[in-house]
Amino acid sequence: MAVGIFDSGLGGLTVLDAVSRRLPDIPFVYFGDNAHAPYGVRDADDIFALTTRGVERLWAAGCDLVILACNTSSAAALRRMQESWVPRDKRVLGVFVPLIEALTERQWGDNSAPREVAVRHVALFATPATVASRAFQRELAFRAVGVDVEAQPCGGLVDAIEAGDEILAEALVRGHVEALLRRMPHPQAAILGCTHYPLMERTFRQALGPEVSVYSQAKLVAESLAHYLDRHPDMLGSGTAPGFLTTGDPTRVSDKATQFLRRAIAFQAA
Ligand code: DGL
Repeated sequence: MAVGIFDSGLGGLTVLDAVSRRLPDIPFVYFGDNAHAPYGVRDADDIFALTTRGVERLWAAGCDLVILACNTSSAAALRRMQESWVPRDKRVLGVFVPLIEALTERQWGDNSAPREVAVRHVALFATPATVASRAFQRELAFRAVGVDVEAQPCGGLVDAIEAGDEILAEALVRGHVEALLRRMPHPQAAILGCTHYPLMERTFRQALGPEVSVYSQAKLVAESLAHYLDRHPDMLGSGTAPGFLTTGDPTRVSDKATQFLRRAIAFQAA
């Protein structure tokens, strides 16, 4: 009954943490493509090739349902995967839709026509590949009209967070927020559209000010997954054991992951 969680590296652990808290009886298998991270500077074909390879590994671990915790994969590869690659007995879901449903005050799976919503000005912070894909704007347009989105590609931020360089990461957050606020001085909502950014949420909030509602994905994804599994219990795969798989060096990745989540985590070679 395992469910797979895919990410380009360690950022998806923020999502894993939230889904494990929400669904404590489900064994989650986490796959981090650390050998190829970051994805945020790659092109869409490359991201598709890497993401599909990782998802196949999770299927082999008995996870028929895989959550792409990675925004960059969700933005640049998921649609193509769902349209032409995922077989009928498997599912791959991304992290954008739960967030957009929350932003547009929709119930889970409400696919009615797009309508006006309370929020008008939205700031999106994400990797360069996610911003270039315009997937957020596309998914939003299916659900809402009249929402202005200003997107800021946060170059360098994932690397600074992965390197544990808090001073640089804080400086980058402030710089990226300032750059966005010059173009959109009064956003009502801000989306932290990358798995790593929740780790810098406090700095984002300080830089944006108290009037801006900050949406962070992990909890929204956990809630949405719980609803999905209520409706589709058949998508719980045959796997029984939780685990952590990486394409990187398991010892190094385990050390970093332990630092990242502040609890002991042991990765195995994928
Ligand atoms: N996990 C990716 C995301 O959520 C960020 C890291 C990367 O660039 O690979 O966008």
